[in-house]
Amino acid sequence: MKNFILFGPPGAGKGTQAKIISKNFNILHLSTGDMLREQKDDPILAPYMSSGKLVPDEVIIEMVFKRLQRDDCKEGFLLDGFPRTLLQAEKLNEFLRKNNKKVDGVFCLLVSDDIIIKRLSGRRVCPKCGGSFNVNSMPPKKENVCDFCGAELVHRKDDMPEVIKERISVYEKQSKVLIDFYDKLNVLLKLDGTLNPNVIFERISNFVKNNVK
Ligand code: AP5
Repeated sequence: MKNFILFGPPGAGKGTQAKIISKNFNILHLSTGDMLREQKDDPILAPYMSSGKLVPDEVIIEMVFKRLQRDDCKEGFLLDGFPRTLLQAEKLNEFLRKNNKKVDGVFCLLVSDDIIIKRLSGRRVCPKCGGSFNVNSMPPKKENVCDFCGAELVHRKDDMPEVIKERISVYEKQSKVLIDFYDKLNVLLKLDGTLNPNVIFERISNFVKNNVK
């Protein structure tokens, strides 16, 4: 039973990598962004998300901990998008300790701002099945149509240029302290997020084999 975290700026490839890890390690993938988007009409949450700001710590912490108490998390999990602040990380450690668990690995994807902007401007997602495409690097077979379920693809509201800039700025304010936090716990693996996703996974897999007991 292992618990992992995917960390990195918006568009670093967390969701892309999470799908590969979850399939290969047979581990549950929990994305806080996806969980929040399921409540996209919530009048309290929506303004934070559409402007690229973080939803308040107390809201996200309660939502995540409630989810982590469900039976399907007993065999381990992969968190994508959480924690994002020092308080979230400290509370997560406290929560896991109380449940005789710990964080076993934090995979931090590093990508420069110009690549992030290019990736997110081109990203199109399927609102029905969660499929993700990119008009520049991974276009769907038929323009704007999901390869997997045939639904019409959308450009996420927070993937507009001004909101992308705000999300990058929010990430930059929080990231150093979180990277230091997990570095001190000896669970951090920094990765070049511009590599091919399969190469990134190979490095994660080697780290887990050699460092996670
Ligand atoms: P969230 O959904 O978590 O957004 P994010 O962190 O900004 O990440 P993204 O989903 O945009 O990108 P990603 O890293 O998953 O990249 P992807 O794999 O899609 O959060 C959204 C909002 O929710 C936040 O702004 C906040 O408001 C709120 N929120 C969520 N968690 C919260 C928390 N803990 N506390 C408070 N608020 C919270 O890849 C991007 C593109 O790049 C794709 O097109 C893909 O094809 C391409 N790509 C991926 N990897 C590669 C690669 N290796 N090479 C080339 N292209 C690649």
